[in-house]
Amino acid sequence: MKKDLIDIRDLSLAEIDELIGVAEDIIDNPSQYSDKCKGRKIATLFYEPSTRTRFSFESAMLDLGGSVIGFSSPTDCSVAKGESVADTARTAECFADIIAMRHYKDGAAFVAASNVNIPVINAGDGGHNHPTQTLTDLLTIHREKGTFDNLTIGLCGDLKYGRTVHSLIAAMSRYSNVKFILISPEELKIPENIKTEILEKNEIDFAETDSLEAVMPELDVLYMTRIQRERFRDPTVYARLEGIYILDNEKLNTAKSDLIVMHPLPRVNEIAVEVDDDPRAAYFRQVKNGKFIRMALILKLLELNEQERVNGNFSKPSKLGAESFDPSIIRCDNARCISSIEQGLEHLFVKTDNGYRCLYCETKAHKSF
Ligand code: NCD
Repeated sequence: MKKDLIDIRDLSLAEIDELIGVAEDIIDNPSQYSDKCKGRKIATLFYEPSTRTRFSFESAMLDLGGSVIGFSSPTDCSVAKGESVADTARTAECFADIIAMRHYKDGAAFVAASNVNIPVINAGDGGHNHPTQTLTDLLTIHREKGTFDNLTIGLCGDLKYGRTVHSLIAAMSRYSNVKFILISPEELKIPENIKTEILEKNEIDFAETDSLEAVMPELDVLYMTRIQRERFRDPTVYARLEGIYILDNEKLNTAKSDLIVMHPLPRVNEIAVEVDDDPRAAYFRQVKNGKFIRMALILKLLELNEQERVNGNFSKPSKLGAESFDPSIIRCDNARCISSIEQGLEHLFVKTDNGYRCLYCETKAHKSF
């Protein structure tokens, strides 16, 4: 089958290890990689604002000797005329060898991947997933802590809409003896599907709290996140929660000396600028890692898909065992799901222990009978 990266679980732990190994080799020997993608092109299709993710995809391809086409806003292209995700992706496929897509709707990158014969990388889909930020985070944890096992990881802030947190939990819960401390207000707790399908199902040790101060001394990794203003339906709720967690030197003084503080960035006010000078602040080192791991990923996906094509195993991801229903029987009620806007998209649902969930956004489906 065609290999895309839509969800971090699309990669085995062995594949993640391999990507980290290649990224570290690129860091040590950049010149050996400088023409590996000569003549290749990436299309960066960004429907939502981005600084680090887009810059790192584009510089990754340029540093591999390839080139870049794309858009950084849906107002700059035919999306503004109402073009669907499927048609935009099929157009990019006519000109590029690989696509990186960021979209404001959950499940958009999966829809793109199902419509093209080139690899698609999810560069963030709504409040759902962000697998390449997770690869960046894993490379950072590997370089800073030397291991993925036996870590207590505090995830703090917007755990409901923070897509980086969802993908990081999916990845880190596959390593040994990892404990998560989920720090958020009631309104921004981790989505139910992550709690049941990942944490509880795999018997992962986790605790939920609303106090950062109370758990600071226990943590090996503190992953701060921005409250995702753009995903709130009610701005008064955002106004109430804005600034709820602020990491400053006073709080950091109670932490372990080998803690690392991570953040996918951008920060608003959740980490005071004074923290930047503390050696435990890893977030700008984390940004740098983003380019190297994306170089490794682009190389790996192009190479794997070449092999699949040669072996004749090349098919697009499609229903993946999902079933189709008429919306009058079972429907997805998530207004942030790509199925709420994409024309001609089949309504597909996957059966789980707790009923059906939407194939695109993974939220529990609504039964109308
Ligand atoms: C994050 C994102 O876009 O989800 N940023 C990133 O990609 N580095 C986090 C955020 O926007 O808060």
